[in-house]
Amino acid sequence: MAHIIGGLTSSHIPAVGNAIAKELFDEPYWKPFFEGYPPIREWLSRNKPDVAINIYNDHGLGFFLDCMPTFAIGAAHEYRNEDEGWGIPQLPPFPGDPKLSWHIIESMVEDHFDITSCQELAVDHGFTVPMQLFWPGAPSNPDMPRVVPISANTVQHPIPTLQRALDFGKALRKALLSYPEDVSILVLGTGGLSHQLDGERAGFINKDFDKMCMEKIVTDPEALAKISRMELVEKAGAQGTEFLMWMMMRGALGESVNPLHSNYHIPISNTGAGTMLLECAA
Ligand code: DHB
Ligand code: FE
Repeated sequence: MAHIIGGLTSSHIPAVGNAIAKELFDEPYWKPFFEGYPPIREWLSRNKPDVAINIYNDHGLGFFLDCMPTFAIGAAHEYRNEDEGWGIPQLPPFPGDPKLSWHIIESMVEDHFDITSCQELAVDHGFTVPMQLFWPGAPSNPDMPRVVPISANTVQHPIPTLQRALDFGKALRKALLSYPEDVSILVLGTGGLSHQLDGERAGFINKDFDKMCMEKIVTDPEALAKISRMELVEKAGAQGTEFLMWMMMRGALGESVNPLHSNYHIPISNTGAGTMLLECAA
């Protein structure tokens, strides 16, 4: 049977993709951010997941405002990346696992989550930047797992509630644990933490709220699920709604997790950048 080994979170800021391409790892601006990743890469090299479920929010590459699925799951043999205009080098396609994808989709729909299934899907920086941080050289890294991309709408209101995101993760856990093949699975939640890219509050970051989220995502995600979407936008900024991805990831890990590593740094570009490694209880 399949088993879930843990979860990772990472901000997915496009400027990080450019810093990786230019190898700015030791520059004073970037060092405190990149320092958050080697302990996770070390854990990954020991644990080597077969599959990474990458929960991210598409920003207009795979979907656009004319057609915005609330929850979309990739069911393709591979996922291409394209130029989004951020100046980040375009990556080769990422290898998929359509058999697992369809198992997840079947199980989620059985559990009353109405899924958009994508047999073709272009993945944007929300997906690719964390992949490059965790598996340098991705997708060409020799330890690169197969991927299942899951995108949730945080772009066009009405977006899902935090409770729905957590419940989605719980149903995803049920789906993964019922997969008959013996595969080890890692779940990524990308995006966040607090940031707002436009409007009067452009540049808004809320360290206290971010720190509270990083603590409660470990100990009490149910308490976070009670935060309303209005409050989330108020406290985390308009794009801080990407915290929904963290909640989806957390729901998939089960009740108790072991927080092995975390890093928080502000600002990276416009964002409070949070990185975490949560290991599943044996
Ligand atoms: C930034 C952050 C994001 O999450 C994103 O999707 C794009 C840009 C930023 O801080 O620049
Ligand atoms: Fe984003």
